[in-house]
Amino acid sequence: MLIAQISDLHIQERPGPDGVMAVDHLELAIDDLNRFEPRPDLVVVTGDLTNNGLPAEYAMLHAALGKLEIPYLLIAGNHDSREPLREAFPEHAYLRSGGEFIQYVDDNWPVRIVALDSTVPGRHHGELCPARLQWLADRLAEKPDQTTVVIMHHPPFDTGILPMDALGILAGREEFARIIAQHSNIERVLCGHMHRSIVCRVGNTLASTCPGTAHQVELDLREHGRLTSNAEPPGYHVHWVRPGATVTHHAVVSYLASPLSPPGRPKAKSAPLGGSKPKVQRAGPSLPA
Ligand SMILES: [Fe+2]
Ligand SMILES: [Fe+2]
Repeated sequence: MLIAQISDLHIQERPGPDGVMAVDHLELAIDDLNRFEPRPDLVVVTGDLTNNGLPAEYAMLHAALGKLEIPYLLIAGNHDSREPLREAFPEHAYLRSGGEFIQYVDDNWPVRIVALDSTVPGRHHGELCPARLQWLADRLAEKPDQTTVVIMHHPPFDTGILPMDALGILAGREEFARIIAQHSNIERVLCGHMHRSIVCRVGNTLASTCPGTAHQVELDLREHGRLTSNAEPPGYHVHWVRPGATVTHHAVVSYLASPLSPPGRPKAKSAPLGGSKPKVQRAGPSLPA
């Protein structure tokens, strides 16, 4: 099964920290996915769908995703609001199936999708409370031999990008890892939040974070590094899910990466070869991912 992943769309009505309208980037990513061959079976959208959780932002998101020609599943991130999200996507009944949380199982594919809600309303960190962890354990116990992918917004590991790790720490991640480690059928734990492509072993599987379709977070591993966005082009992941042999590809939104991009459209800036570091745009103190 081919699963595409996009994340951290941060749709808002004004330009983001990079000066680009997030919905423009999303639509370019959607163009890529619609042209991708072979066509992915499913797109998972791993949270921070909007920047402020506003109904108008979800309306923009709904219109943009209406151009995606592939079925898609949504989860919430720390920038989302559950009820406006549900109201904007009434045809996505699974958004209401998890009670208080937006979490669900989708058994309509060769790979079972288990979506977990890691968000805390009004806060940027994540949490897997006892109720959510028990729900996860129960779902995984249902089909221990079925190839499964878990999706959630906050990564269950430290990345070394310290300001992001501090902002996005996931309470309950040790217990999460213990539950995951009990199952050999989980091919991936697919996350967002980091606005970068990052991979870490968690339990007996790999957990990863996906680039944003909006801004990217600077790779700054210094002890006193700053949280900044940069001019890296947006991207997405394509997961070729096979039992015991899943492969993940990091793809760049091709239109933005091309030097042939026509003027007047958002365009990525390239770093000088062998030269100094590319100039980064300081993102200001309020850029939690
Ligand atoms: Fe986030
Ligand atoms: Fe984000």
